[in-house]
Amino acid sequence: MRKKIEEVHQYIQENKAIVNQTFKPEKHFSAEIGWINDPNGCVFFRGEYHLFYQFYPYDSVWGPMHWGHAKTKDFVNWDHLPVALAPDMPYDKDGCFSGSAIVKDDTLWLMYTGNVVNEDGTVVQIQNMAYSKDGIHFEKIAENPVATGRILPKELVAADFRDPKLFEKNGRYYAVVAAKHQDEIGTVVLLGSDNLIDWNFESIFLKGEAHQGFMWECPDFFELDGQAFITVSPMRYQRTDEDFINLNSTVTIAGQVDWDKKVFVQTSVSELDHGHDFYAPQSLLDDKGQRITIAWMHNWGRTVVPHELKHGWACNMTLPRILHKSGEKLRQQVPDAVLASFPELHVGDELDAIGRLDLDIDQDIVLRLGDDSDYIEFGYQAGSVFIDRSHQKLEITGEEEWPINRRSVTVDAQHLQIFFDKNSVEIFVNHGQESLTSAIYLQGKKILQQV
Ligand code: FRU
Repeated sequence: MRKKIEEVHQYIQENKAIVNQTFKPEKHFSAEIGWINDPNGCVFFRGEYHLFYQFYPYDSVWGPMHWGHAKTKDFVNWDHLPVALAPDMPYDKDGCFSGSAIVKDDTLWLMYTGNVVNEDGTVVQIQNMAYSKDGIHFEKIAENPVATGRILPKELVAADFRDPKLFEKNGRYYAVVAAKHQDEIGTVVLLGSDNLIDWNFESIFLKGEAHQGFMWECPDFFELDGQAFITVSPMRYQRTDEDFINLNSTVTIAGQVDWDKKVFVQTSVSELDHGHDFYAPQSLLDDKGQRITIAWMHNWGRTVVPHELKHGWACNMTLPRILHKSGEKLRQQVPDAVLASFPELHVGDELDAIGRLDLDIDQDIVLRLGDDSDYIEFGYQAGSVFIDRSHQKLEITGEEEWPINRRSVTVDAQHLQIFFDKNSVEIFVNHGQESLTSAIYLQGKKILQQV
């Protein structure tokens, strides 16, 4: 094993027992210790699903990024594996940033961004490759970096060039990568390769509009039932009355690709999740050809309760969601095995750690989870499904200059399916037509009651 990876491994084994489990989720993926953010490298490899993730094991705050690694057969039970990548080369010395995975000739390949901070403080972001024959130990290739800002057109900012998502199309490999336009506009560029080692710039795949954020982090591209989709997480998407209220949002962009010109022609944009904490989703294809996505359940610029409480860990992933095309939007469905792992809960029950509530609704309903002085509220009111954490005692604040306690989505709701874990609530409206995902931290008894 490489030196830094060995050191991390030893540190995790020696220190994971001190992590305070009070709010640590039972059914949502979290690391054994330390800070995590984006899911990376989601892939099906030799009968198992691999999840890599942005990882700083040494503290419960963001730091020089490693790639944590875990695998699962069913998305319910996860095995932690040794860290896959550590920032130990000149081309990734200040962090192995987000990226993705693909399987070629029974070898697992990773493409990731090397973050390099120069002595004068300027930043360089470059793309690198690593591979593994056994799905556990990864070798960074001698050719790294495989793509630098020099291949980008002048109108793009080379210092903001990150988060490659790999895919294969018509026998060629591609990566959609986030790049900032010099006009402070988010863009997605397309890189192409025949062998995963030699990469060239293909096109500006999609350029946003001024109100759609200055940097589009973690783009994902896929086709579903003949419809092309990009999901992307724009920084500072301009808010409307109800949507894009978080400083950084996650959006679904529907369209079609003109493969001759290699451009994505967009037809609509919508917010993918309407809660407080859903960012940087990444998808994979499962063994049945279903597209499954998973996101980071947090948002930049927010306080992190387990860190403030010195619990030794911070952040987790959302539940995985099977994506279905629904017009130009994405309907999200929690896989059956995951659903079955949550015990049913009813109004009036006390929530122990995890539970699932299924509710048919034909009128407004407001529900409360918690005790008299420490609770969250959610439900359906005046045509919107909402979640409100303003009465949670452990307050979560953000860099937003507007109130963020309440999030909502306007929808004609007939059914709510709600998943609770020790630190989260995920609401699926009308079988995944809309979703609201939020982290919650309640300290008292968690009674579910109707208000
Ligand atoms: C998104 C992000 C990515 C970057 C990574 C760094 O949450 O900012 O753009 O690669 O996190 O940890």
